[in-house]
Amino acid sequence: MRKKISIVGSGNVGATAAHWIASKELADVVLIDIIEGVPQGKGLDLLEAMPIEKRDSYVIGTNDYADTANSDIVIITAGIPRKPGMSRDDLLNTNYKIMGDVVGKVVKHSPNCVLIIVSNPLDAMAQAAYKLSGFPRERVIGMAGVLDSARFRTFIADELKVSVENVTAFVLGGHGDTMVPLARYSTVAGIPITEMIAPDRLAQLIQRTRDGGAEIVKYLKTGSAYYAPSSAATEMAEAILKDKKKILPCAAYLEGEYGIKGFYVGVPVKLGSKGIEQIIQIKLTPEEQTALNQSAHAVKELCGVIGV
Ligand code: NAI
Ligand code: 2OP
Repeated sequence: MRKKISIVGSGNVGATAAHWIASKELADVVLIDIIEGVPQGKGLDLLEAMPIEKRDSYVIGTNDYADTANSDIVIITAGIPRKPGMSRDDLLNTNYKIMGDVVGKVVKHSPNCVLIIVSNPLDAMAQAAYKLSGFPRERVIGMAGVLDSARFRTFIADELKVSVENVTAFVLGGHGDTMVPLARYSTVAGIPITEMIAPDRLAQLIQRTRDGGAEIVKYLKTGSAYYAPSSAATEMAEAILKDKKKILPCAAYLEGEYGIKGFYVGVPVKLGSKGIEQIIQIKLTPEEQTALNQSAHAVKELCGVIGV
């Protein structure tokens, strides 16, 4: 049977995710937005590229949630992005209201889907979607770690002038200033980067990773990054649709893992057809655990503001 992915929000991240998904022929795609005409126009434009790309993904745009019915995966990108000078946290109240509008409608039409949340502030929005949906935690997953790790991998590959394919990296914690890039678990062809990059230079790459979102906002001025974020959401969707059992850093609702209970924080998880099939617990040094706890604390504070 053909797979179906709906994407809520047909702006930069949503439309670009539709592009990646259709060009990889992962599923049929439904783009939905509150703005009339934009999802329809982008959906049709993308559909008309399929003969050239030799792909049979069927793409439509709509303003009607009935068209999203029985989606296998719903990616939620609806919300405002930040502008220069804004932090992700400045988006909290507006995007929480949008989540309130969107999640119930999604769940009504696709009660068995896996939700991938992209809207910022990511961890708090994932927590909001988890609470609003009533889904089990396995089926509400936040996208941040794949993006933050991809940025770290990019900077490492560039520094060492090696293929990006050789570089693995893990960034845990919340998607914000408190994110926790784990240098010890980051490798080039299996060799820990701590043996290849001097500590002071590594510290600079870690800081650039933490500031990765702001670096793009500063260039764009009118919005935030979307190619890498949509590619990251697509990698998660592919792992789920193909039941790949792929280990990726994602925001997951923790129930005591890593000593954290009742909040979304980025940790390594195994993604398969059920969504999060396992939370992978790795050994952290006391400093890394402290950094993860600080991240969780920042998420808790935001969740407190919106009461989720
Ligand atoms: P955008 O402004 O290009 O698109 C957002 C879309 O959401 C707009 O088309 C808007 O009409 C739509 N929308 C607003 N309210 C809606 C509602 N109630 N129902 C349906 N659609 C609605 O923004 P962009 O760049 O696509 O970013 C989207 C969100 O993703 C932002 O909150 C941004 O901060 C976040 N983001 C998160 C990342 C992450 O790593 N988790 C990375 C990049 C962006
Ligand atoms: C990013 O990191 C805006 O959260 C988004 O690019």
